[in-house]
Amino acid sequence: MMVNYNHTVVVFLLLSLIFKLGSCTENQSQTNNVTVKCIQSEREALVRFKAGVIDFPGKLSSWFGEDCCQWKGVKCDNESGDVKASFSGDVNASLSGEISPYLGNLPSLTHLNLEGNYNLFTKNLDWVSSLSSLQKLYMGEVKINHTKADWLHAINMLPSLLELSLCSCQLEHLPSSLTFLNFTSLVVLDLSYNSFNTSIPQWLFNLTSLTKLDLTFTNQGGKILDSFGRLGRLGSLQYLYLAGNHFYGSIPASFGNLSSLNELDLSYNEMNGTIPESFGQLSTLVKLYLLENSWEGVITEAQLMNLINLEEFMLTTNKNQSLVFNVTHDGFPPSLKSLHLEGCRIGPKFPLWLKFQSEPTYVTLRNVGIEGTIPEEWFPMISAQLTILDLSNNQIKGNLPHQLVFPNVAKLFLQSNLFSGPIPSNISDLMPNLQYLDLSENQLSGTIPLSISKIKHLNILVLRRNNLSGKLPHNWNESQIGLRVVDISENNICGKIPSSMGFLGNLSILVLSNNNLSGEIPSSLQNCSIVSMDLGGNHLSGNLPSWIESNIFMLRLRSNLFNGTIPKKWCNLYKLCILDLAQNNLFGAIPNCFNNFTAMVDQNIFGYKPIENYTEKAYIVTKGREYEYDRTLQFVTCIDLSGNSLTGGIPIQITSLTRLGTLNLSMNHLIGSIPKNIGNMRWLETLDLSNNSLFGAIPGSMSSLTSLVHLNLSFNNLTGRIPSGNQLQTLIDATIYKGNPLLCGSPLLTKCLGDEASDGPTITGVDDKQGGDDYERIWFYASIGLGFVVGFWSVCGTLLLKKSWRHCYFRFYDDIKDRISLLIALKVVHLKMIFGLEKN
Ligand SMILES: *[C@@H]1O[C@H](CO)[C@@H](O)[C@H](O)[C@H]1NC(C)=O
Ligand SMILES: *[C@@H]1O[C@H](CO)[C@@H](O)[C@H](O)[C@H]1NC(C)=O
Ligand SMILES: *[C@@H]1O[C@H](CO)[C@@H](O)[C@H](O)[C@H]1NC(C)=O
Ligand SMILES: *[C@@H]1O[C@H](CO)[C@@H](O)[C@H](O)[C@H]1NC(C)=O
Ligand SMILES: *[C@@H]1O[C@H](CO)[C@@H](O)[C@H](O)[C@H]1NC(C)=O
Ligand SMILES: *[C@@H]1O[C@H](CO)[C@@H](O)[C@H](O)[C@H]1NC(C)=O
Ligand SMILES: *[C@@H]1O[C@H](CO)[C@@H](O)[C@H](O)[C@H]1NC(C)=O
Ligand SMILES: *[C@@H]1O[C@H](CO)[C@@H](O)[C@H](O)[C@H]1NC(C)=O
Ligand SMILES: *[C@@H]1O[C@H](CO)[C@@H](O)[C@H](O)[C@H]1NC(C)=O
Ligand SMILES: *[C@@H]1O[C@H](CO)[C@@H](O)[C@H](O)[C@H]1NC(C)=O
Ligand SMILES: *[C@@H]1O[C@H](CO)[C@@H](O)[C@H](O)[C@H]1NC(C)=O
Ligand SMILES: *[C@@H]1O[C@H](CO)[C@@H](O)[C@H](O)[C@H]1NC(C)=O
Repeated sequence: MMVNYNHTVVVFLLLSLIFKLGSCTENQSQTNNVTVKCIQSEREALVRFKAGVIDFPGKLSSWFGEDCCQWKGVKCDNESGDVKASFSGDVNASLSGEISPYLGNLPSLTHLNLEGNYNLFTKNLDWVSSLSSLQKLYMGEVKINHTKADWLHAINMLPSLLELSLCSCQLEHLPSSLTFLNFTSLVVLDLSYNSFNTSIPQWLFNLTSLTKLDLTFTNQGGKILDSFGRLGRLGSLQYLYLAGNHFYGSIPASFGNLSSLNELDLSYNEMNGTIPESFGQLSTLVKLYLLENSWEGVITEAQLMNLINLEEFMLTTNKNQSLVFNVTHDGFPPSLKSLHLEGCRIGPKFPLWLKFQSEPTYVTLRNVGIEGTIPEEWFPMISAQLTILDLSNNQIKGNLPHQLVFPNVAKLFLQSNLFSGPIPSNISDLMPNLQYLDLSENQLSGTIPLSISKIKHLNILVLRRNNLSGKLPHNWNESQIGLRVVDISENNICGKIPSSMGFLGNLSILVLSNNNLSGEIPSSLQNCSIVSMDLGGNHLSGNLPSWIESNIFMLRLRSNLFNGTIPKKWCNLYKLCILDLAQNNLFGAIPNCFNNFTAMVDQNIFGYKPIENYTEKAYIVTKGREYEYDRTLQFVTCIDLSGNSLTGGIPIQITSLTRLGTLNLSMNHLIGSIPKNIGNMRWLETLDLSNNSLFGAIPGSMSSLTSLVHLNLSFNNLTGRIPSGNQLQTLIDATIYKGNPLLCGSPLLTKCLGDEASDGPTITGVDDKQGGDDYERIWFYASIGLGFVVGFWSVCGTLLLKKSWRHCYFRFYDDIKDRISLLIALKVVHLKMIFGLEKN
């Protein structure tokens, strides 16, 4: 898999140690070349630590010489001990290996920070228990191979401890009771991203000094009232993160006692009910995240009116429209910067409280039952500061207002509404700063205004599924170099694809399917950076574009009037996962180099390079019918050459495509036999070779195609016994062999010669499934079943790939939208953990 790490803003503190060392006798910042000697035993402990780890990027290269106080990352401090020292490296640099237990020989150590070194491990934390001066311990991502709960006993030997972070340490046991609590002064406790499978332990409620508690994704369960209610005792809490557990029940009223609360995150639990009225007391609350629970009931001004400091409010509910906002016009927190409400009921009218927001920059009211039109009297009052507006999946009617100015809006999502009429011809004046425009699935008509190509920073343009007509804008130019996605599919656009699109040097995804386009594909498009091109369902003609470059992931040209042969140059397309040329006038042989489509062979070649924030959709014919794929498109592998006039045999090279899911060569003029080793194609789910002139026997290896669910060999000239065994036995519909008069055996009624007594021998394929493949496949299906709300695969992919990134990413990433997608990604990871699919 290829993942772009560059966009992340994660800072890993690689290592920092802070000492109080009695031997440091001078103020070092005063005289910078004093010779301070650290205590020999402490130096020894550090030397052993260094010797025990692999320090590939050389982060410890300064660790030599007598005076360990001079070593990078080590700070000696004679008394105050509170100098914060840390150094950061790039994200891939890290220490690996085992932490030497001799690190415990630092009795005056006050701060230990090994966070982010996800290749470090320690067999236990016993060595920590002798660090009796320790105030801050950060070990996030370091693996602690504990099978038992004694890590907590080691921590309980640290009476001075103020801050503890053991996030994502692979801990599995969280003792519910302690006879005596030593670390009662604890202020920060972060145990997120471990899998405890218990409920909140009793001793935690005695940590009354806690200001920050993070139990995000710790797999905790239990009825919320039991343990949750007692959280109300922790009155100093300012930050409480409980997302991604299995808490159920409703939010207890005692939460109103958390009078210092700044941030609360209850997302991704199984909670129901509404927000209690006691929330009205949380006047210090700044951020409230209530994503993805089964909220229901009514929210009125009683819960919200006093949240005068609230800046971010995000709530989505799994129970569609069963949470109702019935808030008077002045009953909403007045200074929200970010508002994300989804799945609840706010409509049918446009909420008037929006009018009284003083400075919203991010507003998402998605699938909230708003009907009617955009209120042109007051909407301009809030539109000026908006940078993101998402009103998608409502029933908003009317024209897109020509006078509504969004000077700052960068992302406008109005898809899946009932907007009609034309796209404003002056759109580049109304929204000069647009980066992302999605107007898909409305009833917009008229032509696409030329001014759209004047929006300088436009990055993603999605106009799919409207009634737009006329020609495509012809005036594209280099000033729109940022444009990466153009999706105008499922409209009534006619004419040619303008060659000026070749100026869009970064155009990666071009979707113009299901229109009335004609003419040839302009060769200027080779100046773009195409990774996915879907021009299916038009009247395009001429030869296939042989200039396609090797970055392409999907090439879908089906149902057009292309003629000529399949270009040999395409043998270089090693990232290709979807090749759909069905229903054209292609002739000649199938090139014998398809084994070069490496992405259909090797799971490590990841053909799909996602554009963050954009989900491509495409129709793929598989299992005998057409499916619309979106988020799972990247998992699809398909070759469909059906309905052409291809001749020659089936090239044997095709059988090396072990990760091909769909192979459809039907309705051509292919001759020869089915390749013997077709059974190698383990992923094959759909195989359609019908309506050709294939002859010879059906290879017995076909019974090893254990994934096969759709097979069609009808109307050829195949002969002999139909193999059986494994999956083939389940394909009992005789019509899939129809039109081959010389075939015999089950499921046909024609008995083979000498088969009078028995049903004939069974050829049983070898069922040697490979674990890796199965994992991928199960994950593939799991992902189809999940209804993601938002999902940016770059984020998800990264997180799935490097499990250890999750937490730090979470902690440092501020962008709101990405917080949501991140949570979704985490949910997926979590689900995978539940299914036991987590792969390290
Ligand atoms: C320790 O540092 C303090 C300043 O924080 C300084 O005044 C004092 O002299 C130092 N003590 C010794 C023993 O060097
Ligand atoms: C060291 O000396 C400087 C300047 O005299 C002083 O500002 C600083 O507080 C001292 N640092 C420590 C840690 O004592
Ligand atoms: C101390 O540092 C100064 C300049 O920073 C240098 O001139 C001097 O030689 C150094 N003394 C020793 C003993 O290293
Ligand atoms: C602890 O975990 C590390 C990293 O996963 C592994 O290499 C090591 O073998 C484990 N040690 C024990 C004793 O389980
Ligand atoms: C509390 O910490 C002290 C100091 O490390 C230790 O001696 C004592 O055993 C600890 N108590 C418990 C119950 O662990
Ligand atoms: C927690 O506090 C209660 C009193 O509020 C006390 O009875 C109990 O022993 C404490 N638990 C621990 C583990 O210290
Ligand atoms: C919440 O769910 C529980 C079962 O998990 C159910 O007993 C309870 O009635 C639900 N509460 C509401 C308000 O629907
Ligand atoms: C909304 O509140 C008003 C008065 O506050 C009330 O009459 C109405 O029934 C409420 N609607 C819902 C759906 O709760
Ligand atoms: C897509 O998301 C990235 C961050 O994930 C952001 O930098 C970029 O501006 C976004 N692009 C658009 C068009 O929204
Ligand atoms: C291919 O199509 C073009 C135009 O559609 C036509 O002019 C040409 O004759 C066709 N070539 C063949 C070999 O059919
Ligand atoms: C297969 O691809 C490689 C590079 O990816 C290329 O060099 C080679 O020519 C291709 N094979 C054929 C038969 O074209
Ligand atoms: C089918 O195969 C038989 C024997 O191989 C041959 O005689 C016959 O002509 C073939 N029929 C077709 C339609 O190719």
